[in-house]
Amino acid sequence: MKKLLWTICVLTIAAFSHAETGQEAWLRYAPLKSIARANYDSLPASVVTLGDSALLDNARDEMIRGVRGMLGRTLRTERGLPQETAIILATTASLKSAAPALAIPQIGKDGFWLGRASVRGMRCILIASPDERGVLYGVFAFLSKIAREQEIAILNEVQQPDAPIRWVDQWDNLNGTIERGYAGPSIFFENDNVRTDLSRVSQYGRLLASIGINGCTINNVNANPRVIQDDFLPQLKRVADAFRPWGVRLAVSVDLSSPQKIGGLKTFDPADPQVSEWWQRRVEEIYRLIPDFGGFTVKADSEGRLGPSSYGRTPADAANMLARALKPHGGILFYRAFVYDHNLDWRNPKNDRARAAYDIFHPLDGKFDENVVIQTKHGPIDFQAREPVSPVFGGLQKTSTAVELPVMQEYTGQQRHLCFLMPYWKKILDFDLQANGPGTPVKDILAGRSFHTPTGGYVAVVNVGMDANWLGHPMGMANLYGFGRLAWNPNLRANTIADEWTRLTFGTEPRIVQTVSAMLLSSWEVYESYTGPLGAQTLTDILGSHFGPNVEASERNGWGQWHRADEKGIGMDRTVATGTGYVGQYSAPVAKMYETLQTTPDNLVLFFHHVPYTYRLHSGKTVIQHIYDVHYEGTEKAQNYVNQWKSLEGLIDGQRYRQVLDRLEFQAGHARVWRDAICNYFQKMSGIPDARNRVGRYPDRIEAEGMRLQGYKPVNIVPWENASGGRAIECALPEGCTAAFRFERPAGWYGLDIEYYDQNNGESRFRVLVNDQLVDEWAADNHLTARKPGGDSSSRRRVKGLALRPGDEIRIEGIPDGEEHAGLDFVSIRPQ
Ligand code: GCU
Repeated sequence: MKKLLWTICVLTIAAFSHAETGQEAWLRYAPLKSIARANYDSLPASVVTLGDSALLDNARDEMIRGVRGMLGRTLRTERGLPQETAIILATTASLKSAAPALAIPQIGKDGFWLGRASVRGMRCILIASPDERGVLYGVFAFLSKIAREQEIAILNEVQQPDAPIRWVDQWDNLNGTIERGYAGPSIFFENDNVRTDLSRVSQYGRLLASIGINGCTINNVNANPRVIQDDFLPQLKRVADAFRPWGVRLAVSVDLSSPQKIGGLKTFDPADPQVSEWWQRRVEEIYRLIPDFGGFTVKADSEGRLGPSSYGRTPADAANMLARALKPHGGILFYRAFVYDHNLDWRNPKNDRARAAYDIFHPLDGKFDENVVIQTKHGPIDFQAREPVSPVFGGLQKTSTAVELPVMQEYTGQQRHLCFLMPYWKKILDFDLQANGPGTPVKDILAGRSFHTPTGGYVAVVNVGMDANWLGHPMGMANLYGFGRLAWNPNLRANTIADEWTRLTFGTEPRIVQTVSAMLLSSWEVYESYTGPLGAQTLTDILGSHFGPNVEASERNGWGQWHRADEKGIGMDRTVATGTGYVGQYSAPVAKMYETLQTTPDNLVLFFHHVPYTYRLHSGKTVIQHIYDVHYEGTEKAQNYVNQWKSLEGLIDGQRYRQVLDRLEFQAGHARVWRDAICNYFQKMSGIPDARNRVGRYPDRIEAEGMRLQGYKPVNIVPWENASGGRAIECALPEGCTAAFRFERPAGWYGLDIEYYDQNNGESRFRVLVNDQLVDEWAADNHLTARKPGGDSSSRRRVKGLALRPGDEIRIEGIPDGEEHAGLDFVSIRPQ
């Protein structure tokens, strides 16, 4: 018995002793358990490639790597038709010429066939595609089946991507920082050059290929013109070389004023022949070095970027000028519809940023060249927690469009909060814009089925960084995986994607699959509920981090993310009858739904209408009570994620288990910061108390400013709702300060939640003592997007399992560092 226990122990340790950084993401190829492995006993012993290319070699090596990892066998490699049963990787052309009698099904571009057939009398597994990239995709699909322990005995399927554009954007700056990047510095650039070591780029290419992504724009849309200067092009070529074996085409964002900024011309007027000639020469130079270059992405006349409006030209003039330079080489021009005036007069109730893209681009429909793609954010504002679908998709019927989706969670928790966006994206893609009567869901428009547009599809802003696990939060990768899967097949269900990703990432143990899938699938609506419910948008600091709460940051400025909350009510009136008229940009049946309160769904009511706080939703609740309730419910659910995850301890390797746990603990604490800020703000603004008496009442809390302070000084937090009681304490003394209080409850076991401020401009240290006995210490060393104490930096430290007695002195010592002043907000005491 003892021996058995010992063996079990050793096996368990062996299973989890290898630390997993998350770098392999969903391509771990973890060893299958022996029972599952037995299903693949009949797998051929060799892999054959018909043809000779870097892509096919890569496909073969991936097959070998996957089979070795999962089944512990090394496939023999062969060229030419096999002498024995084999896995054959081939383009359809080479397969046809090698085995003319073989019946090969119809396969479109980038698609593949997984089949079993007799070749020269040998029963083989065939992975074939008209192009080499498709063969690689087929290999990944085949390996994914094994990793998910699926049947491969009967194999006969053709898979086809739904749209030609399946692209990702990175907002990397040449200096190595990433705009809205939350997982370390750029994998492409450092110090205004391309990195010397591009191994991460090729690993990224592999991840992208495994989900069918075929292009990547690697630099910030707010582009540095240097990216297409002569001396930079050989550096770009190195990136293209790293991507090529994975079938990923390189593209760059360009600054439309480049002819003037770096070309020495007096103008960048798209109608000036000198300007188009300049671009043509640049493009030729690029293609000389990078023959499969993908094209350009353009952000112009937006948020301070120069554009064609400087010369009274239209986006079509600018886009076509560039598209014509790219056309002879097969390049694509992505022109972003994210064009709006960020100096709108907020006092004019008819002004509306949401109208901008449609107002500008709809009149140009039919004027864009065939290799222009209008890249449109999914909603009319900017990646908010919930927005309606952008009417641009229905408004461009003679132009290819691509939807831009945020894997990088800019407004949905920045990979600090779990927020799986597939349920949201599915709603967007399935939404029937009824452009010309029923039957034009967004996915059909993107694929070109609705309007016969040739080059549409999907673009995600991803912003992976040098963090080993790519996005900081291991769960954040589910959004990248899901994006690729939906771009390939938008009919996949969100729960299928969650299930696939979980199995590939954490294993097939049913408890893991059920728990993680359930967490993923509920997480978007949970995030929405404690940030910006009812279509109010993410009530965050839109002027800065886009992370923590800050209701008023959206109001009374030119950025136009208004929700127009005042003492009486909240919401933007966008109706045709009395509002900004935005609703009129939709087709008649969709406009009819949003025009009246009765037919607008509750979850978007504040996006389309201004209503009193006492307005009763379809649910029967008033708006104000709904705001309170969902914030409390959402915070509780976020706290529950911690418990759900903890139930998997021991089933997941230690490193990733702790990484996820850390993020979930942070999220649970930060959800509470959100809850309190939003609820207190609206209770004060509306003057209507919470019917359940929770808001503003925190009997478990001891405010830091009310403690006995030595060295610490009380400070006002701006905005006030971002600190409990509006105030906190800070320490300016280098030797440190203390804040103490007496414990006055009955003796027992307790935990302390210490709310402190963790900024990115210092690493303060904290110590907690009970009657001079040190019970906890930590450094505020998290890298949040926060430079001051407030809703972005407010963090929670949980100290558990303290035996406290009445009269005990609890003392917190804070030692500041840099500009971070060991700020403290409150301590709450929880019986355990
Ligand atoms: C958002 C984001 C910016 C970005 C812009 C864009 O406003 O905050 O950082 O440049 O979108 O998509 O162009």
